Amino acid sequence: MEAPLVVVNFKTYTSALASAADRLGKQMADVSTNARMVAVTSAFDLSSVSSIDGLEVWSQHLDPVGQGSHTGWLEPETAIARGATGTIINHAEHKVSLEHVRDLMAMLPEGFPICACAADVTEARALAELGPTFIAVEPPELIGGDISVTTADPTIVSDTVAAVKEVNPNVRVLCGAGVKNGQDVATAIALGAEGVLLASGVTKANDPQAVLEDLVSKL
Ligand code: G3P
Repeated sequence: MEAPLVVVNFKTYTSALASAADRLGKQMADVSTNARMVAVTSAFDLSSVSSIDGLEVWSQHLDPVGQGSHTGWLEPETAIARGATGTIINHAEHKVSLEHVRDLMAMLPEGFPICACAADVTEARALAELGPTFIAVEPPELIGGDISVTTADPTIVSDTVAAVKEVNPNVRVLCGAGVKNGQDVATAIALGAEGVLLASGVTKANDPQAVLEDLVSKL
């Protein structure tokens, strides 16, 4: 199995924007682990955070638009030029259509990881038909909460893995919502996921470095 992923979504948390994004990115890069650590930053912070050695940086969203007369969209080629080496798409907090995901995938370079977020097994199955690199199942009602999806609803993780692999065995599954610690990560892996997507467990922590170290402590 490839290295498990720990994908930290900076969202627009004050503790993960601008200079704080740089600080958190450096803390992630300093974690000694076999896991694949990914920082998912605001578009405004891509350039700065991607300059940190040893850290993979993804965009929180991208739009299937080219360069030209488009206003207010996140254009993929410039995101890549500014340091994005992957992206999430269709996050619960920024939903898009299947056509948006399909059209965006057609514009991205070969091997550029795209992680499509799904609220449930049904959406995960539909997204798997498009063949993204990753699908992250995240029940919206658990996002930002204190209970990990791996505890609150473990079957959604294992059912999503089964459904996605049935549609396309090459699509890799992550899970998220409420993930807080190394036990949550270990349970996610035991349920068949290849990693986790999280935010507040890190961005709202008193000691983010300690949380980052704990997240990978059982891998
Ligand atoms: O993108 C991951 C995020 O939606 C999960 O949020 O705060 O429950 O870890 P959180």
